Amino acid sequence: MSSSSNETDPNRHERAGRTRATALITGLLIASLSHPVVARAETKQSKSYVRRKAWPGGVKETVEFPDDSALPALEAMRAASQAGGIRLPDEAPIEFSLCGYSPGSRATFEARAGRHRVAVKAYEEDPVPEVALYVALAAAGLAGDSGARVPPLLAWEHGLRVLVIGWLEGPTARDLVRSGQGRRAGELGACWFQRMASLPVKLGPPLGAAQMLQRARDWAAGFLPIDSALGTKARELAEILAGTQPKEEGTPRLVHGTLYARHILDCGDGPGVIDWQRFGQGPVELDAGTFLATISRIGLLDRTRESEAAQAREAFLAGTAGLLDERSLAWHESAMLLRLAGKQHRRDDGRWLERADTLLGEAARLAEAAG
Ligand SMILES: Nc1ncnc2c1ncn2[C@@H]1O[C@H](COP(=O)(O)OP(=O)(O)OP(=O)(O)O)[C@@H](O)[C@H]1O
Ligand SMILES: [Mg+2]
Repeated sequence: MSSSSNETDPNRHERAGRTRATALITGLLIASLSHPVVARAETKQSKSYVRRKAWPGGVKETVEFPDDSALPALEAMRAASQAGGIRLPDEAPIEFSLCGYSPGSRATFEARAGRHRVAVKAYEEDPVPEVALYVALAAAGLAGDSGARVPPLLAWEHGLRVLVIGWLEGPTARDLVRSGQGRRAGELGACWFQRMASLPVKLGPPLGAAQMLQRARDWAAGFLPIDSALGTKARELAEILAGTQPKEEGTPRLVHGTLYARHILDCGDGPGVIDWQRFGQGPVELDAGTFLATISRIGLLDRTRESEAAQAREAFLAGTAGLLDERSLAWHESAMLLRLAGKQHRRDDGRWLERADTLLGEAARLAEAAG
């Protein structure tokens, strides 16, 4: 009988698990794309902004789902697509574009059905802390559709380690600087910090200068096997940072942790901040230094954008007057520039050494200023 052959099939549990995962991801995506918040965002929006994708594979309408067993949601999405794709009740097909992918760690997709879209975030690690943060931010009034905001959490699934959030429309602060709107980028950043200054959210692990210094030492050590001269320079910089580490005696606040210029979007009437995976409790200067480091990087690596980057910085500092400690800000910006320098070899176009050296030079200047 067929049932007995089923019972002896050694792969039946695996297959049943796959079927369950496929059903879960399908339900999750249909529920998210049918969510009233998503429908409202679509009708309000006049024009959609085409953003430069962070992941080069993401420019295609539909992508192959990377083969990555560390990300269960990704496996489920692939299985669903192989089984004929996912459709809404009205038969509209859901299409995916890969926006960001760090193998073995995380993948971010845009999922779209007609003019409705959401962001799908698939992780290797437990997404529960990030889920709790979205809930707390929404309770604090930050998941609305005006003013400073974060994406609303639409659905999530613990076993699949996935969450689905609303899609925010608009150019990023990085796009703004690159397209000649530096001042607007700086004002947008400042607006975010003004809103954060009164936010009562107390979630997340400690994330301040002590943790950054530890990382700075690791980042500096990462240079050595790649280039010994830069490695020495980076190690010297990490030692200067150790000697100038800010005291940070103020009450820790919610910090984003990776507030790069590409994570702040211009939603028209306020900033929208995405990608909260690395949040914690720490000094506001950690986020501000990260933001400024990514703004500086644009001008340092592309001299034609130097004055736009300078205008962004100027507008940001004017808009955050009284909120930030200058020395601590310089310290955190320096540490983040060290981080960004360490990523330059990923684009091996024969000029990465020069780029890394430029960023390290600016980092060293700031580290001295922090002393
Ligand atoms: N909620 C959202 N609204 C609008 N765009 C989004 C949203 N989430 C992600 N994106 C887009 O996808 C890109 C990657 O998303 P995100 O930064 O959250 O993922 P990531 O895996 O950390 O990628 P990366 O390592 O490139 O930062 C973003 O830079 C942005 O363009
Ligand atoms: Mg990101």
